[in-house]
Amino acid sequence: MKFPLMRNNIMREDLDAVIEHLKQDDPILTHGANVRAFEEEWSAWLGVKHSVFVNSGASANLLTMAILKIRHPEGGEVIVPPLTWISDVASVLQNGFTPVFVDIDPKSLAMDPAKILAAITDKTRAVFLTHVQGFDGLTDELLAELERKHIPLIEDVCESHGATHRGGKLGSFGWISNFSFYYAHHMSTIEGGMVCTNDSEVYQQVRMLRSHGMVREVNDPVVRTAYQRANPELNPDFIFAFPAYNTRNTEIGGIMGRSQLKRLDANVVRRTENLHRFLSRIDSSKYRTDFKLEGSSNYAFNLVLQKNDDGFVHRLMTKMRESGIEFRRGSAGGGNQLRQPYLKGIVPADYHLQFPETEHIHFYGFYIGNFPDLKDEEVDEICAILNSVE
Ligand SMILES: Cc1ncc(COP(=O)(O)O)c(C=O)c1O
Repeated sequence: MKFPLMRNNIMREDLDAVIEHLKQDDPILTHGANVRAFEEEWSAWLGVKHSVFVNSGASANLLTMAILKIRHPEGGEVIVPPLTWISDVASVLQNGFTPVFVDIDPKSLAMDPAKILAAITDKTRAVFLTHVQGFDGLTDELLAELERKHIPLIEDVCESHGATHRGGKLGSFGWISNFSFYYAHHMSTIEGGMVCTNDSEVYQQVRMLRSHGMVREVNDPVVRTAYQRANPELNPDFIFAFPAYNTRNTEIGGIMGRSQLKRLDANVVRRTENLHRFLSRIDSSKYRTDFKLEGSSNYAFNLVLQKNDDGFVHRLMTKMRESGIEFRRGSAGGGNQLRQPYLKGIVPADYHLQFPETEHIHFYGFYIGNFPDLKDEEVDEICAILNSVE
């Protein structure tokens, strides 16, 4: 591919850091000091108290919904977007909650705040908002109303590292936030994810949920001692507080994360410059350019057609294939989740049609690569190719 979705996300210096570690006589490879250091450095970067490194963004989603289930064993509703990754919706279902879908705002591609507020009922347990493709999905009104109604906000920031709302980093506003470090994202630990929170109780519980529900993972002696005292007949090393998972990462992931984090802010600046150049050059009569750009941290250009034009969309895909422009149709997660087989029988037939903004992205939205070493001339060439489609 001449213009791939991603190039050079893992650099020589990241690999060298791993090799240095491996050169030791007996290197620790399971999670250890580097994982802990990465968690601390990530928390400092994000501006939250606690972070827990896991093996994927999907695992971060799963553990977050498992926490919500500990708070609400009776179940209830979680408001989620139809334009997101499957794991956001799957984690809701896996933990026995009912997903309540609301359509997106075409400018941010995140759930429309007014529609979120209209969907709140006395059964709403959380709003699980995805910041799509680096755009800020928050508004002050949404934050204020959720606080007033005591509805927890959970932020999925897997696609939006470094994006901000009024100067604060996305992922530092919610009760809990989730990140992914999958290869194609803003930074990569090969596979990886992070659960972040200011809530110390959540932190201790996520530490346990990450490792089989084991109490010895708790790093607050008060909490650990309380479990041990309550279970005197159990070996203190093997007290399982929750029926949980193993979603741990490794020292190699920790080392890569620490190395990558050093470049993250500079990469966000570079990608943002690319995005602005891209938006100033693509033909706004054919493609949408009126996105909510303030605070955005793009990692893939959004190519959304102005019109529902099936002929145009096919000519565009043919042109991109011929020109070596790698693309994904449907933007984040392949488009409208409500069309996916895993939701058949859970939502009514044809329910997806009630979400016209998401439907537009499903058929007429794409993303294409935007990465730090994409050159200005390459952005110009991509735009010329896209603009040539009639
Ligand atoms: C919004 C969102 N949430 C969660 C995930 C899952 O992350 P991972 O691929 O690391 O499991 C993704 C993946 O791309 C995503 O885009």
